[in-house]
Amino acid sequence: MQFPEYRARRMRRTEALRKLVRETQLDAADFIYPLFVVPGRGVRQEVPSMPGVHHLSVDTAVEDAERAAELGVPAVILFGIPEHKDKVGSEAWDEGGVVQKAIRAVKKAQPGLVVIADACFCEYTDHGHCGVLAEKEVDNDATLENLGRVALSYARAGVDLVAPSGMMDGFVGFVRDVLDEGGFEQLPIMAYSAKYASAFYGPFREAAQSAPSFGDRRAYQMDPANSDEAMREITLDVSEGADIVMVKPALAYLDVIRRAREEFELPVAAYNVSGEYAMLRAAGERGWIDYDRTVLEVLTSIKRAGADMILTYHAVEAARLLKRG
Ligand code: PBG
Repeated sequence: MQFPEYRARRMRRTEALRKLVRETQLDAADFIYPLFVVPGRGVRQEVPSMPGVHHLSVDTAVEDAERAAELGVPAVILFGIPEHKDKVGSEAWDEGGVVQKAIRAVKKAQPGLVVIADACFCEYTDHGHCGVLAEKEVDNDATLENLGRVALSYARAGVDLVAPSGMMDGFVGFVRDVLDEGGFEQLPIMAYSAKYASAFYGPFREAAQSAPSFGDRRAYQMDPANSDEAMREITLDVSEGADIVMVKPALAYLDVIRRAREEFELPVAAYNVSGEYAMLRAAGERGWIDYDRTVLEVLTSIKRAGADMILTYHAVEAARLLKRG
């Protein structure tokens, strides 16, 4: 039997050799840590479908942001759960809303941490859809007006990046114009560009109490079967002034992340969503998988696919695992 000249196993024999030829280096600096902020003080309540993820009041959110920063995680993204929901989600642009308060508090405690705020309405409306309803549909342009108000209120609170996530047409350009007119032309936008109508958002909707009360989000979020359309969505957001584009979810869409990386020059973010987190947690708790190893493997795969940054509920624990080596 004639062996080939190249024996692939030679470079796999020791950890030192493997390290030398490792193509993808996962780093705490790749992560963005999502935090769910609720009204009150001293709140730290675990989300049942997301063990390890909590509803936090502003004070405890600051603690968790500090912990992330200490471990080298450079950014957090804030989601808010309001005191009261209404038809249009007006608490979303309240200067005294939980997200606006959390932005101020986290920036004060950790000026070096990048504070991102998600701008959407599903957590704030009593019907759970991502905007203003006209009959049984979300009214695109009326929603944009309110989205502008949210972005401005975040900007005034001192946010570092605004992340509009509602998948309304023209949302990036609209937010860009509003920010520019408000004197915030230096404030960047992270656009949820290719956001799919995914079943993997289930646990988030429990965490954010944002499940739609009727119907679903398929009239504004993307069909999981399409990737050319994702490139069209990204093209639009880039032309409207996005600074970072996002693909969401991550794991079932690694091919879309790869295409985005190859077809665009902007930074690409990937959202490792709640259902992806919950699956590992659930299987790990049952002892069916080695939780720590799967966390690092999954995050590595998302980076290998081409993501420049990963929004992930694993951020803090993964940073800790990476530190341990
Ligand atoms: C919508 C929004 C969603 C997520 C973040 N912002 C999804 C949705 O309910 O449509 C999902 C994040 C996750 O599942 O982790 N504003």
